[in-house]
Amino acid sequence: MTFFALEQLGKLYDGYQKPFSVAGHQLLLLQLDGERYLIENRCPHMDVPLDRGQLLGSSGIRCRAHGIEFDLVSGKSKGPLADTIGCLKKYPIVYQGTCIGTEL
Ligand code: FES
Repeated sequence: MTFFALEQLGKLYDGYQKPFSVAGHQLLLLQLDGERYLIENRCPHMDVPLDRGQLLGSSGIRCRAHGIEFDLVSGKSKGPLADTIGCLKKYPIVYQGTCIGTEL
């Protein structure tokens, strides 16, 4: 496993969302209500990038393509299509010094 630094901790804030391309992985780092999430930057519905999605409440994101909402904690989608759509792919968050990153 190799550590990849993504961002300085001091640059994070509630509402933060930024895509990263790391070692062939498309990642999306987010912060809502002080919680940080690192997910694949891809909507499980039709593979549209999730960056610039609408952040909802304390742990939700709405894809801008068709409006499906996902819970960032469970990764599951909400609504009538929930049983037919896969979950968000989550990545481990790793802290190293003043950086937040991941290990791949
Ligand atoms: S591609 Fe995201 S809701 Fe359809």
